[in-house]
Amino acid sequence: MTARIELTDAAPHQTLTLEFPADGVALRGRVRVPGDKSISHRSLMLGAIAKGETRIQGLLLGEDPRSTAACFQAMGVTMSSLEDEWVTVQGVGLGNLREPADVLNAGNSGTTLRLMLGLLASHPARYFAVTGDGSLRSRPMDRVIKPLSLMGAEIWGRQNNRLAPLAVQGQSLKPIHYHSPVASAQIKSCILLAGLLTEGETTVTEPSLSRDHSERMLRAFGADIVVDPDTCSVTVRGPATLTGQTVVVPGDISSAAFWLVAGAITPGSDLVIENVGINPTRTGILDALAAMEADITLENSREVTGEPVADLRVRHSRLKAVRLSGDLIPRMIDEVPILAVAALFAEGTTVITDAEELRVKECDRIAVMASQLNQLGARVEEHPDGLTIHGGTGLTGAIVDSYTDHRVAMSLAIAALRAKGSMQIQRAEAAAVSYPSFTATLAELCGLSVG
Ligand code: S3P
Repeated sequence: MTARIELTDAAPHQTLTLEFPADGVALRGRVRVPGDKSISHRSLMLGAIAKGETRIQGLLLGEDPRSTAACFQAMGVTMSSLEDEWVTVQGVGLGNLREPADVLNAGNSGTTLRLMLGLLASHPARYFAVTGDGSLRSRPMDRVIKPLSLMGAEIWGRQNNRLAPLAVQGQSLKPIHYHSPVASAQIKSCILLAGLLTEGETTVTEPSLSRDHSERMLRAFGADIVVDPDTCSVTVRGPATLTGQTVVVPGDISSAAFWLVAGAITPGSDLVIENVGINPTRTGILDALAAMEADITLENSREVTGEPVADLRVRHSRLKAVRLSGDLIPRMIDEVPILAVAALFAEGTTVITDAEELRVKECDRIAVMASQLNQLGARVEEHPDGLTIHGGTGLTGAIVDSYTDHRVAMSLAIAALRAKGSMQIQRAEAAAVSYPSFTATLAELCGLSVG
């Protein structure tokens, strides 16, 4: 059988057809992944509210950061073209976001909406209306509205202030110490951003450490940030003064994860993924794959504008099943779908627990990954807080669906590398949220072109 990668337009959606020879395809060479999504959002937001110019290199040109940029432009922030090698943001200074003339639209992006809410709620005498796409409008916003309300914020939303569209009447807020029930960087960052304009000490404590990009970048921009790693607490002292900085965005480990798994499961593969962010709060996927005995090595480790970066080399190896739970899960929360694909090719049964957060991502990733992988002949069981994945069942191509979730779309495409027959992924355009060139890069690594 000849290999084939084909994108067909079924407006407004796309279907991706993937077909590979029965003995698989070896992925070889070097690849660069797009900029880190979390760091891209934060660089645009902090740049927008700082004094002076922020320069950003390596910004992710995905749909999510574009939503962030559009929201802040609507509030009076001037930015150069996002396509520029160095994107410049002319910060308006803390507290100076303008009341937008229309509804702010965060698109598919939970990070945009939740982080931005902390800023909007703390801008006195301005009114904001915010919404998002169908997926975002079904995701819980009470997790940030609750702590913001404790600070004195006035926010209204559907279903008893749980869902967007939301209305925000900006206020002068009071500081709190919030104990978050979940390890979530979006909750933590929302409160810290609200704390910037709030006089006094605003503290967030989490049950375990979530990604710390906000803390690192806020400190670099001049905020008074104190981190207590023993209690997983962060404190910001307001009012802060932020000054524009230079940010070099590393490659996104969440995007690199697709190639790590692709290389690990396809015989003959030897791949280097260059310039990947390896912030320890994000490297759970490396720990999980190491526990599965994947052959991954770090090369050329360095630090770039406050974030650790390395090149990752992956070679095919026999994988073993693993049990994943606890503090590891927040460190690989976005990589569970692709890890589930790796587990299909491991010897034994992989069990993932403590991952109930996956149910409130861009889609219910527990239900959708189980149903879509089972559609391909896998044996995956769904639990309230995770998945059981039986390795070694073999996959056969079928029609599957991304459920408009970028990480589901890309995980299924990687599974196709080891599936018999042809696979069709419906609504495959979702990948553009975080990785617009994903299909082209997949084709390139397989020595194909996209038909
Ligand atoms: C993100 C935090 C995570 C992650 C999301 C990006 C961020 O969400 O899933 O893709 O940039 O802060 P939670 O904070 O809700 O876990």
